[in-house]
Order: sequence, then C-alpha cells, then structure tokens
Amino acid sequence: MSAAGAMEIEDVAALRTEAVRILRENDRGGYTIPTDGLYPFQWNWDSAFCAMGIATYDVDRAWSELDYLYQGQWESGLLPHIVFHRPVDSYYPGPDVWGTAHTPPTSGISQPPLTATATLRILDRAAAAHANMSDAKDRAAALYPKILALHDWWERERDPDRTGIVAVLHPWETGADNSPVWDGPLKTTPATKTQFQRRDVALVDATMRPRQWEYERYIHLVELYRSLGWDGGKMWRETPFKVADVAMNAILMRDERDLLTLAESFGTPAERARLEERAERRQSGLDRLWHAQDGFYYSRDLVADEAIRVASHAGFLPLWGGVRNPDRAKQLADRLTQWLTLCRYGAPTMSPRDPEFDQKRYWRGPVWAIINFMLGHGAAEQGFADLADRLREDTRALMLRSGFCEYYDPLTGEGLGGGAFSWTAAAGLAWALD
Ligand code: GLC
Repeated sequence: MSAAGAMEIEDVAALRTEAVRILRENDRGGYTIPTDGLYPFQWNWDSAFCAMGIATYDVDRAWSELDYLYQGQWESGLLPHIVFHRPVDSYYPGPDVWGTAHTPPTSGISQPPLTATATLRILDRAAAAHANMSDAKDRAAALYPKILALHDWWERERDPDRTGIVAVLHPWETGADNSPVWDGPLKTTPATKTQFQRRDVALVDATMRPRQWEYERYIHLVELYRSLGWDGGKMWRETPFKVADVAMNAILMRDERDLLTLAESFGTPAERARLEERAERRQSGLDRLWHAQDGFYYSRDLVADEAIRVASHAGFLPLWGGVRNPDRAKQLADRLTQWLTLCRYGAPTMSPRDPEFDQKRYWRGPVWAIINFMLGHGAAEQGFADLADRLREDTRALMLRSGFCEYYDPLTGEGLGGGAFSWTAAAGLAWALD
C-alpha cells in the first residue's frame, strides 16, 4: 500500500472517532441536536440520519433517537420538524411563535420522512453486531404503528385527493429551506408584517444563510397556519404555498417501501395490502413529476398548477426513491455525472452553470453530506457504480479536508454554516467513512 493510502486509512479512523465524539457531544440525554447554538432542539430528518450513524456504534442509543423524536408526534400522525424538548431561548422561531398545542412543544409542519428507512438500518446493524434481536424487534415493533400513522397523515392531509403526490406547505418542510426552486412560489406568498429578530445570522455569516425576503415569507406562513389553529384541512385550502417537492415525494416513496418491509414482520395482512396499493400510487405519482422534454424530475407548484422548471439536487433524488424506467435513471445518472465535472467536490445542490448557483449560500449550491448519502445509495442501487464511488470519495475528501460541517463549498471544499454537525458526522459513520 502507498504511504498516501496508509495515511488515508489512519485519517479515516481518526475521523470516525471524531464523528462519534460530535454525536456524543450533541447528545442531550437520549436525543441529538444538529449543532450547539444554531439548532438547539431535536430536528426530524436530522434525527433519522443520526440514528443511522449512531447505530454503527450503539444500537440501543439509536433506538432512543427515534423514540424521542416520536414523543413529538401529534394525534393526527404528523411528525413535526422540530421537537422543543427543553426551553432554550437562543432560537427563532421558538415554541411561542409556532403556538401549537402539543406536549412537548413542537413546530406544526413536518420534514422528509426517513424513520422507516432508519428503523430498517438499525435492525441491520443490530443483526451485524449480534445484538439481542428480540429486543431489537420489540423496539421496531413499537415504532411501526407510529410510522404507519405518519404515512397515513401524509396521505390524508397532504394528498387529500389521493393523486399519489404529496405537497408541502412550507419551504422548511422540504428540508431544503432556500432552494431556488421555491423562489417562484414564494414571490406570490405575502411577507409578514411582524418585526422579528433572526438569530441564525448572529451565529453564521449572512452570505451563507437564506435572505431576509425569504425569511419574511417563512414567518408569514407560520403565522397564517397558527391563525388557522394548525387545522390541516384549512391549511390546505387557504395556503398560498403548496408545492409537490420532488425530493419529498422521492424520500417518502422510499420510506413507504421500507415501511412495507417492516409491515411484513410487524403489520397485519390488511395493512400490507393497503401499503402495497399506496406504494403503487406513489410510484405512478413520482413518474408524473418527470418532464419528458427536459429529461428531468421537477417539483410542481400546485397553486399555479405548473412544473417548476428549476433543476436542483432534488430532481436526482428519485434515484434514492426508486426509478422504475431504466432510461430515465440513465438520464439522471448522466446529468449528475456532468454536474460533477463542473466542481471539485460533488454533488452541488445547483449546477455551477445555473445563474442561481451560489457556492456558499445554503441550499443554493453547497454540498450536503446527507444528500450525497441518498444519491450515493440510489446510484449504487440503480447500477451506476462509478457515480456512487465518486459521490462517496468526494464526501470523504470533504470530511478529510474540512471536518463535519453543516455543508461545503463545491468549488473549494471549504466547510460552511454550523460546525460539529450531527447529521454530517452520522452520514460519515453510516456511509462515507464506513
Ligand atoms: C436547516 C436545514 C434543514 C435541517 C435543519 C437542522 O433548517 O435546511 O434541512 O433539518 O437546518 O439541521
């Protein structure tokens, strides 16, 4: 082995140790915060990734991550995007702005669902570690009905006409807060009239965060839904922002399939039949987000009733969700490969050739390890091994260069946003450094 190869192995081992240290440091007694200061509570999809990372070294603690997250679940099945387990006043908007009725306090919107996926992966890690499988099965069995209730919520409240495509009612719900894909729909969303004090820009350089005009609309939507008492039916009818996000639909598709696998062990025959039927409806829904002329998957603005022809990382995520048409999968892989030729470290969240590309601004260009995790798995599963290898190597190179930051500059590899970031560390442990 070359000296460089030996050094990399040592460096990777040191990085894994550092990733475990970060996840332990961000542990608040059973659940993990994304990073100290900027995000001091439990976030939904962050925790699903954390659970997959933690499962590589502590299966019991990985289950606890999901159990704490589900303490925030509403009776309707909604799994909120933030659970405010304990009061911390350094975050805006906090529980009083959301004004929801749950204990513990939560936000009132969701985030991409990955808890069935996480549950399956914890079960796999438990088996690989020769852990007590009857305990692992009990933990999974206890989660199963809650995850089922979440999926039923997505269908009931976010696809009331049973089209097979769910909509989000807030950019934060997509997890890709300030993606250029939302610029159009946000322009027809009013701004809040409330004066508010952002906390994020006191902690992270403002050039790396969403802009003020976007924030004013984020807060308007929260205030509107609060005024509607967080009633799903009213929100659906009255919102100015209703978008079928392709990433959300792809991630939901995968989680639904993983839920079906869980149902084989923990569900009833009737549930399995219902889930199979729904998975089929979702798959054809996802198929309809394909734009034949552009050869890409786009999100759809359901208020304007049109495709949003902005190509972002989201359009590649059907690789993770499952693309059943091989020709489409190939077109996605070719396009992503082409994007990767334009930057030193992939995958960028926008093509560097796009006029909206901004190499440092959050979801408008930077690389996110958890997106690479999903794209890397999707590429491998759909038969694009070289693409999968490149994504994994780039993620590893970013971690070696800049540690476990919130996101990275695709041109220079500089670490951006918050430091010591939990889901980045988890994506390292569960995939890039595994
Ligand atoms: C930001 C991200 C979101 C994430 C949260 C906590 O809001 O856009 O995806 O869940 O931070 O890390």
